[in-house]
Amino acid sequence: MDQLEVKKPLIAGNWKMNLNHLEAIAVTQKLSYSLEDKDFDAVDVAIIPPFTDIRSVQTLVDGDRLRLLYGAQDISPEKSGAYTGDISALMLSKLGCTFVLVGHSERRAHHGESDELINRKLRATFSMDMVPILCIGEDLAIRESGEHVQYVLTQLRNALKGIHKPDLKKVVIAYEPIWAIGTGRTATPEDAEEVCSAIRRELIKIGTEEISHNARILYGGSVKSGNIVDIMREPSIDGALVGGASLEADEFARICKFHRVI
Ligand code: PGA
Repeated sequence: MDQLEVKKPLIAGNWKMNLNHLEAIAVTQKLSYSLEDKDFDAVDVAIIPPFTDIRSVQTLVDGDRLRLLYGAQDISPEKSGAYTGDISALMLSKLGCTFVLVGHSERRAHHGESDELINRKLRATFSMDMVPILCIGEDLAIRESGEHVQYVLTQLRNALKGIHKPDLKKVVIAYEPIWAIGTGRTATPEDAEEVCSAIRRELIKIGTEEISHNARILYGGSVKSGNIVDIMREPSIDGALVGGASLEADEFARICKFHRVI
């Protein structure tokens, strides 16, 4: 946790269901050698591998004292017990996870995750002092109806319902329009800024001015080295959640070096 600084940009690579633990070791090593201390000083770089890779990543990060952060793609809302296939907050915390993705649109779509479940997963994440990356975003039909800002703010309010202020301070929000995920169709920087700035204003109402000001709000959806600079120039965007382009160490490292040209 002490590596985390308020408002330092965060670039997180969501590997989804890709890369086995042997491939994870190779990509993690290559990524860390492709980045220099000046990159880690300027940007928090995180990888979010599948559960089965996390122990291997932990061993590398601890053993070689890498400056990479890492986390998990999902978490159980329950503490322990008869929940076959689920992974608890304590298990992830023991593996040294800093971050947990909560409410990714693929989990909402394929596993029917509701706002209420997402709220419970956020609480589980906070219970072990990990940092949730709460994903919110609209689909194409909602975007075309023009209701996208209200839709995303409703997701935000529902997910954060009843979360106490000390925990709210830690949350990272990722705005990921579903129509831009894995499609090669990136939201324009202006589209992303419109929603991210609305999220920041809403965080004042949900929390405080200070919480809103310090919160890291990421953009996600077809981010690559060719568009990261323009995205990061937007005032309300503090980082990116990267899917496909995080699977290849060279490309992900180029994304993480955006600060060198801004
Ligand atoms: P993408 O995925 O970068 O492949 O569009 C982003 C995400 O789903 O987090």
